[in-house]
Amino acid sequence: MPNVFGTPHKGTGHATQGGDPADSPGASRFGNHEQVVFCQDEASGLRAIIAIYSTALGPSLGGTRFFPYASEDEALTDVLNLSRGMAYKTALAGLDLGGGKAVIIGDPAVDKNEAMLRAYGRFIQSLNGRYYTACDVGTFSEDMDVIARESDYVTGRTVAHGGAGDSSILTAFGVFQGMRAAAETVWGRPTLRGRRVGVEGVGKVGHRLVEHLIQDGADVVICDVNEAAVERVRAAHPEVEVVADTDAIVRTDLDVYAPCALGGSLNDETVPALKAKVVCGAANNQLAHAGVEKSLADRDVLYAPDYVVNSGGVIQVADEIGGFNFDRAKARATGIYETTRKIFALADDEGVPPAVAADRLAERRMTEIGRLRTILL
Ligand SMILES: NC(=O)c1ccc[n+]([C@@H]2O[C@H](COP(=O)([O-])OP(=O)(O)OC[C@H]3O[C@@H](n4cnc5c(N)ncnc54)[C@H](O)[C@@H]3O)[C@@H](O)[C@H]2O)c1
Repeated sequence: MPNVFGTPHKGTGHATQGGDPADSPGASRFGNHEQVVFCQDEASGLRAIIAIYSTALGPSLGGTRFFPYASEDEALTDVLNLSRGMAYKTALAGLDLGGGKAVIIGDPAVDKNEAMLRAYGRFIQSLNGRYYTACDVGTFSEDMDVIARESDYVTGRTVAHGGAGDSSILTAFGVFQGMRAAAETVWGRPTLRGRRVGVEGVGKVGHRLVEHLIQDGADVVICDVNEAAVERVRAAHPEVEVVADTDAIVRTDLDVYAPCALGGSLNDETVPALKAKVVCGAANNQLAHAGVEKSLADRDVLYAPDYVVNSGGVIQVADEIGGFNFDRAKARATGIYETTRKIFALADDEGVPPAVAADRLAERRMTEIGRLRTILL
């Protein structure tokens, strides 16, 4: 892959996960993506890539990741994978939105500046509504406020600027709804009462998930590499058990394991050690590689697909597009319970792991609803 921007790169490495059709030998570098846009503004240091996977269901939506990619190639691989994932997520969230994503190449702590964000905003505006952006790793609501000074297609802004604010509220709520559906499938009742749930990572989403679980009557076990995050939970709920790390939590006698830290929690080491009967958490890309979903099914562990149960956040920022209404967004996030049940039922009917069933359902919706655009208006 030539250096499209024609500029040198520096920075740290970054591992990406997930399969993309673009990865298969002989396939087009851009897989099935509709549009990939390289944006550069030398004076401000902006180098960004916007990838639109699909607009079959509507304008594409997905956050902007600001990251010190080691190379352009790495940035491109990441944005292609992420935008594809967003198309599946928005499809199953029942939104009239497609999937896209963007990356800005650089270290957000050093390179981010007003001119760069505004230049980026002008590139988004030039797509005329084919792509809506939001926050992701390295970008915050305050950055969205700046980008929005140049573009009408920005969500995830601060409440003071008419935005929806912290998306972790509905993300945690949605994960809890997915977990209720899993509990019903495995134990017959849509509640976590009396169940032992291990939450790995009690940051913005994880600590809110703990609140839902305790309210529902679950026993909660947590771990986090950040002592302050653990203390915040313990201060509010001294009854919560704390274990050392991921290694310990997967080996704990749990009913449910909820990965809410980083991706790749489900891998060749953790899956054979898992005691839990259900996996349902907020983290993106929980399956370390293709085939892990089958290992889970073979061990009779019910896996609630990550991008389905963690879609409360995208539901929240999507609602902002028409003027944010929390109750309306929460009602839609409640639907994650039904969608997760539907996926488990389809997995059962078609004899495939839930991750495969979720992909099929998403593709079905993109095809069936996307087809309606062929009716001339
Ligand atoms: N915030 C959202 O709305 C949202 C939406 C969808 C998906 N997600 C995903 O959910 C996950 C959590 O998001 P968040 O917003 O709560 O992030 P966060 O950074 O606030 O919280 C993550 C927590 O995990 C901890 N952690 C990191 N590595 C760990 C490890 N090895 N073991 C245990 N704990 C570890 C961190 O210390 C932190 O407290 C991420 O994977 C994110 O991509 C978040």
